[in-house]
Amino acid sequence: MATLRLENGAILTDADAIADELAPLNIQLNQWTLGDNPALQNLLVQEQLHEIEKAQVLAALEHYFEQLQQTGNYASRDLIVLHPQVPNLAELLAKFDRPHTHSDDEVRYILDGEGVFGFIRPDGSQIELTVTATDYINVPAGTEHWFYLTPQRRIKAIRYFSGTEGWVPRYTETAIRFRPVLV
Ligand SMILES: [Fe+2]
Repeated sequence: MATLRLENGAILTDADAIADELAPLNIQLNQWTLGDNPALQNLLVQEQLHEIEKAQVLAALEHYFEQLQQTGNYASRDLIVLHPQVPNLAELLAKFDRPHTHSDDEVRYILDGEGVFGFIRPDGSQIELTVTATDYINVPAGTEHWFYLTPQRRIKAIRYFSGTEGWVPRYTETAIRFRPVLV
């Protein structure tokens, strides 16, 4: 379940209150159950996954991809698995930890671990949303945002794509007023 931090330090956990704060950004945040498939659960508790295991996770959750394809122009999906042993983790994360936009929606389904999305709202205020397992989020194209991992530095998430060319970050150089979450 997601939690939201405001610049005044308030932390919101109520889903309706979080939805109200996200409304000016048109961000969609839903809960998608992972179900009770023991094979899937066994894979998700592992820190690392081989390619064949990633394919098994995607297959177990393919019904969500099929649903998305019925409602929008989704072409592909993949599973990203980040953990402290990923050799180029710092380099990977550095691409996204300062404010940027994309020309496509950023669509993620969090399966394990956690991450933090920061957003700049139309009035200039900043918020940070911590997403965890079962959170599905759609950040609309053009939304100024950033992303980083919490100190556990671990996340598994399905990324849904309508294309690949929209995936290049365009940096906006806006200063982040939040400090990193210290958990
Ligand atoms: Fe992004």
